[in-house]
Amino acid sequence: MIILTYLLYLLAAVLFILGLKLLSSPKTAQRGNMFGAMGMLLAVVVTLADQRILDFTYILAGLLFGGLIGVVMAKKVEMTSMPQMVGLLNGFGGGASALVAYSEYVRLGEGVSLASLDVMVTLVLSLLIGSLTLLGSLIASAKLHGMMRSAPILYPMQKQINALILLGILVLGGFFIADPGLWYFPIIIVALSVVLGVTSVIPIGGADMPVVISLMNSYSGLAGAMTGFVLSNNVLIIAGTLVGTSGLILTNIMCKAMNRSLANVLFAGVGADYKKEDQVKEERRVVRYTPEDAAFILESAQSVIIVPGYGLAVAQAQHVLQELARILTERGANVRYAIHPVAGRMPGHMNVLLAEANVPYDLLVEMDQINDDFQNTDVALIIGANDVVNPAARTKKESPLYGMPILNVDYARTIMVVKRSMSAGFAGEGNELFYDKKTMMVFGDAKAVVTNLVGLLKG
Ligand code: TAP
Repeated sequence: MIILTYLLYLLAAVLFILGLKLLSSPKTAQRGNMFGAMGMLLAVVVTLADQRILDFTYILAGLLFGGLIGVVMAKKVEMTSMPQMVGLLNGFGGGASALVAYSEYVRLGEGVSLASLDVMVTLVLSLLIGSLTLLGSLIASAKLHGMMRSAPILYPMQKQINALILLGILVLGGFFIADPGLWYFPIIIVALSVVLGVTSVIPIGGADMPVVISLMNSYSGLAGAMTGFVLSNNVLIIAGTLVGTSGLILTNIMCKAMNRSLANVLFAGVGADYKKEDQVKEERRVVRYTPEDAAFILESAQSVIIVPGYGLAVAQAQHVLQELARILTERGANVRYAIHPVAGRMPGHMNVLLAEANVPYDLLVEMDQINDDFQNTDVALIIGANDVVNPAARTKKESPLYGMPILNVDYARTIMVVKRSMSAGFAGEGNELFYDKKTMMVFGDAKAVVTNLVGLLKG
């Protein structure tokens, strides 16, 4: 039985690793997801059966009930609310790890004094990281969901207070490791970690939440791995480590995309003093163009780079956009899509959206690869994007966007912007691009405007 358990755990670990590998390309991502889910199902069932924790009736009931909640959540969630959901799931993962580690401590009871040093150290780390992840993720989700102020909430001596709480937790942890009989110490450690989760995430602005979400994702994995050590459960150690390290890699990619260090994201409170009221009231007027004007320019364009943004997802205009791109290509234009790493509201948002509309993957070009091509392009067609093309990121030091690399749409011969109004993007920063002499503002819902363009170009 023990050998069979190990073999099944090994199979689950192989499924996790294969799943992660397949997730690295949009072509294979769905299969990767399926492999990961199968690995997790296998690991859960084998653990429950092997440890004789529950009989099969309960396992089956739990699977059905939990699976049903998962299916309903996955079906109901809007594509634009995915990051909040990922945030919540990270938090639950962290919280579950801390609870399991604590329950192992309770289970050991009197025998805990015999627990080895590595069990005690990983128990403390699991309580710390798991509880911090739970509250940190809930705050990140609330900020993204608009349930709390998305701007950084700063308070005096923020860094010192957080450092002090962390130090307090580590000192208490040290005492607890030395004397595992101090039963109330884990409770204080959890309480302080929960406070640290709140105090460390509220000073981070909404525009930096992508980094926080991927960091919390990594923490939830690390908490799981720590709990794996407490329980001596290899599959939990492997799964947790995979999540922890891949989350760190993603965090690093996100930081690079925003041209910020992790320390800057976590501690700088970027955007705190930046209120929309502080912005100079725009007296200038933009020139409005009609879809007919836009169709006229597109008809003669030889090269078009489409820049999709969050508004495309809101409007669900990806299918009709694909149709527009096809028509332009048939007319002889070279059409590609420029993908900014933080366009939309989650890592890979635009890739997923366009893949859903069957846009061929080779037409999706990442920012670094396409940025030099804008200068030789007839039309940069911006659909529901704002921050990722905002030149303030290059020039305006006090802007929350400052330092983020942007798509060089302003180097194209004509800039066409489709959005509903002059309102700002996610970071709350006005956009000079809209006043550029080369810019044609076509106001309206992305789906309605693009549908109109398709009709005009077909006719
Ligand atoms: P945003 O800066 O959010 O701008 C989107 C624009 O779309 C808005 O200005 C809005 O203008 C327009 N829009 C909304 N609904 C529309 C509709 N139905 N039709 C047409 N236009 C519509 O988008 P972006 O350029 O993709 O930048 C993403 C931002 O989100 C960045 O600041 C990024 O840091 C942040 N963020 C990213 C992530 C990840 S991981 N990608 C996660 C959280 C936050 P109107 O209202 O005038 O139409």
